[in-house]
Amino acid sequence: VIIKNARIASSKGILEANLFVEDGKVVALKKTISGSGEKTIDATGLFLLPGLIDAHVHFRDPGAEWKEDFFTGTRAALAGGVTVVFDMPNTAPSVDSQKILNEKKKIISAQAACNYALYFGASEANQNEAKQISGACGLKIYMGSTTGSLLVKDAVALEKHFQLFPKEKIIAVHGEDEETIKKYAEKYRAGEKPEHNKVRPPVAVETAARKAIELAKEYGKKLHVCHLSTEAEMNLVKEAKKEGVPVSCEATPHHLFLSEEDAKRLENFGKMNPPLRSRKDVAALWENMDAIDLIATDHAPHTREEKEKDYWSAPSGVPGVETMLPLLLNAVNERRISLEQVVEKTCENPAKLFGLKGKGFVAEDFDADFVLVDLKKTKKIAAENLFTKCGWSPFEGMRLRGSVERVFMRGEEVFDGENVFAKPGSGSDLFS
Ligand code: DOR
Ligand code: ZN
Ligand code: ZN
Repeated sequence: VIIKNARIASSKGILEANLFVEDGKVVALKKTISGSGEKTIDATGLFLLPGLIDAHVHFRDPGAEWKEDFFTGTRAALAGGVTVVFDMPNTAPSVDSQKILNEKKKIISAQAACNYALYFGASEANQNEAKQISGACGLKIYMGSTTGSLLVKDAVALEKHFQLFPKEKIIAVHGEDEETIKKYAEKYRAGEKPEHNKVRPPVAVETAARKAIELAKEYGKKLHVCHLSTEAEMNLVKEAKKEGVPVSCEATPHHLFLSEEDAKRLENFGKMNPPLRSRKDVAALWENMDAIDLIATDHAPHTREEKEKDYWSAPSGVPGVETMLPLLLNAVNERRISLEQVVEKTCENPAKLFGLKGKGFVAEDFDADFVLVDLKKTKKIAAENLFTKCGWSPFEGMRLRGSVERVFMRGEEVFDGENVFAKPGSGSDLFS
């Protein structure tokens, strides 16, 4: 396959070239076209990005397949230009042993339509098993309770994970402090329907981030702080980076593009952990975009029916894997972020941080996974066009300038702007 007249985006800038693909890999980037007879795709007017790597999704398989299964989740990913997903361990049963990890792999491998990696989940007692785990992209620690039953609230248990986990691997935290969350929930439980941002307040994430950073520093372990939502967390991460602590962080599209104002309108469809925050907190994330290593979705589907329950009963989480790139492209058009930064935070940095071979860059010898986007085309986010099984989006109704036109995996077209062609089982486990 030859992709001609491509404007290839990377963190270093835009390169105009023709792309030659053979056996699923990029074999050359050239200014001129030599050789023919093959399939040629004209990318004139479009930008070509590496396939996106969404380092944070919840595909619900096994255990809650009515919300999403690994096929519908990976199909949604491809429609959003995402060719690699990292799936979280709060499936059912929780992925907290080697045996359960292996079983999960067996179940999902036949369904995956894009490439994937799986996280291992920390429990209060599995530090020794976590230390020797094989086939996971990292360890996920829930410092506060959320969907599922994984939780490490005991300080000694938490410390032991940081002490024992291999230092070359990533420890990702859901950083909301359980004690703080409990305290505030008690306070609000008796009264009127509360605001989620008050029930799980900024101080909960600040407290957890401080603890996690302290432990990463003490034991020299690689910490990844998931879904930053507040200015205070942002500042803690920046300080830690300055001190040389091996810490990285991530922000989600919902924390970047929505605030507590939207939460009022969205009701439980805007309920997630950590919650949507104040405009000031949102602004702080944008102002510190340079310090945000990854943008990842925390795609966490729940059904409409589940979300329509009362505040206390409705589960937390929103879908996002197929709307991230259009939202970011729209932000590129609004000059809030550059296309170079988008590629850096959704392709290059996740590949580097997790050591994914052949991914994240459009370059010779790298996998021919890429996305063609039209920065000028406007599309409206509409429920009926979504691939996620839950069938709704907190961004519904938004008109976004910047669309995903075609997606390729190993040189083959897997999405044409309307249909996903990838078959269940065609994705590979990147940590097999
Ligand atoms: O809102 C959330 N939903 N936050 C999480 O940490 C988990 C996720 C889920 O799995 O539903
Ligand atoms: Zn989380
Ligand atoms: Zn999550």
